[in-house]
Amino acid sequence: MDLKKSLFNSRYFHENSKLFPRTHQEEYIKNYPILTERPKFKCIKEYDFFQSTNLLDEIDFYQTLRKRRTSRSFEVRSVIAYEKLKSILTNSYGITKENEKLRSVPSGGARFPIYIYIFIFNVSELEKGIYIYIPEENKLGLLYIGDFRDKISNCIARPYKNEVEKCSFITVSVSNFLHSCEKYGERGYRLALLDCGHISQNLYLTSTAEKISCRALAGFYDNKLNELLLLNEDFEEAILVHLFGIEQESLGSQFDMEENNYYYGENNK
Ligand SMILES: Cc1cc2nc3c(=O)[nH]c(=O)nc-3n(C[C@H](O)[C@H](O)[C@H](O)COP(=O)(O)O)c2cc1C
Repeated sequence: MDLKKSLFNSRYFHENSKLFPRTHQEEYIKNYPILTERPKFKCIKEYDFFQSTNLLDEIDFYQTLRKRRTSRSFEVRSVIAYEKLKSILTNSYGITKENEKLRSVPSGGARFPIYIYIFIFNVSELEKGIYIYIPEENKLGLLYIGDFRDKISNCIARPYKNEVEKCSFITVSVSNFLHSCEKYGERGYRLALLDCGHISQNLYLTSTAEKISCRALAGFYDNKLNELLLLNEDFEEAILVHLFGIEQESLGSQFDMEENNYYYGENNK
């Protein structure tokens, strides 16, 4: 098979995204404020993330970069401290410059088209369910109560189901393409995917700093996952999944596990 010729669809997509080449051309670009109308999520319960403890302050950035690895195999359903989840979310995607509503990731045109949904299975203080992180208010909103492990496992490609079975929580990065495309036309599609990549790296780095293992997963059934999250089929798409848990010690974790016990204590089963 000639790979170059068979990649027709992605080439076609990329060519279309070239239609609006100059991101600063008056006719195309309206002066949108950083945060325009955002969907309000109907949360059953909201958790304030203010005064989140910030373990990252004590951790060396370059060491964290060097330690970052994709998880190979999680321990079975370890309980992860709520404070750690808080730290991972607020440091990965939280507002870092309040008056301008800028965040810890760069974003093309400051459109911030990505929303982070979280499937909670084994996190202290949180009931099982599907949540959404709301950076503008620094809150975690509970959308649906229940154990959705089987439901999300059904959306994930077979080789990864075993890890889904064992992990402690899962994030799904969802793009609302309208946020970037209303400003940049077809080119906005590219920018939204790049935003997802920035967030992914932050999720990896913050979890590394918190001694939690992470595994990005592109191997999922898009439509099934979109349906599970009740996304708007015209402009919302699940882009990337991340599984989080504690790495199996026998495989040689990148973390000092003795130090890890300090964080999880006796609570970790
Ligand atoms: C966008 C993206 C998608 C990925 N999808 C998968 C996946 O579907 N399955 C998987 O096992 N790993 C996946 N990974 C993890 C990569 O396999 C991993 O990053 C790579 O092997 C390098 O290893 P390292 O992260 O430990 O440095 C993905 C990583 C990225 C950035």
